[in-house]
Amino acid sequence: KEYQNLLYEFDGGIGIITINRPKALNALNGATMRELNELLDVIAQDPSVKVVIITGSGEKAFVAGADITEMQSMSAIEGRNWGKLGQAVFDKLENLPQPVIAAVNGFALGGGCELAMACDIRIASDKAKFGQPEVTLGITPGFAGTQRLPRLVGKGRAKELLFTGDMIDAAEAYRIGLVNKVVPPEELMAAAKAMAQKIMSRAPMAVQLCKAAVNEGMDMDLQSAVAYEAEVFGLCFATADQKEGMAAFVEKRKANFTGK
Ligand code: HXC
Repeated sequence: KEYQNLLYEFDGGIGIITINRPKALNALNGATMRELNELLDVIAQDPSVKVVIITGSGEKAFVAGADITEMQSMSAIEGRNWGKLGQAVFDKLENLPQPVIAAVNGFALGGGCELAMACDIRIASDKAKFGQPEVTLGITPGFAGTQRLPRLVGKGRAKELLFTGDMIDAAEAYRIGLVNKVVPPEELMAAAKAMAQKIMSRAPMAVQLCKAAVNEGMDMDLQSAVAYEAEVFGLCFATADQKEGMAAFVEKRKANFTGK
């Protein structure tokens, strides 16, 4: 299917989503958000997609935020509904069965930083810039940035970024744990694909269950979360890949996982 504001390509098990509104630095308007929502439903149901990569088109921006021109004249009710739509789409992204890597190629501001944070792993170009500049516009973040940012970098650093609206570069984002890795711009997609390939070489069910255990468990108290982990761990022993993975180790050969 053709999208107006997204590109979607499939490359050997990897689904690559490109936010594609370069004239507005890939700002997320309503139409883009609805298309992303639709595409995520398709990907969630497509077992041939093993890992997803999200990036922005052009040299300059990952996503420079929610579209300010569209928000300018919103009423309070419209603002709340816009926030709820974005929150729901990013929640769908965070809980996609497949691992999702953000390849942050440039500005990741406001809703763009929130989009990156809803991904499982963030790899940044050394030209990338991060920030939550909402307070410079008279608003708060609205796509769960006030919640995902402190969970990733801690309350103190999150509040500094939220209250000042300051932009930080990729090296600082790496230092505070907002990104996993920083690479030169020309190596960004190769680095994201290499990580995707490595993840794809592991037992697929085990990878998906790791994701579920982290996502579900982080919203529970520790006792419930470790109980959930025990169930997930037990479930692995019902898979062919557990038999294969352990047999391969004992036989000193490479495992050949089937995702069964
Ligand atoms: C709409 C945007 C935009 C945005 C950039 N553009 N960001 N349009 N919404 N978020 C447009 C510009 O208006 C301009 O259009 C074109 O993209 C190029 O941008 P420039 O500003 O000319 O580029 P530059 O001078 O290099 O500055 C880059 C920038 C700046 C620093 C990233 O564009 C910027 O500050 N953008 C806004 C960042 C921001 O505040 N994001 C948070 C939004 S609030 P024209 O037509 O003039 O060429 C948010 C809330 C999320 O995200 C939660 C909602 C519920």
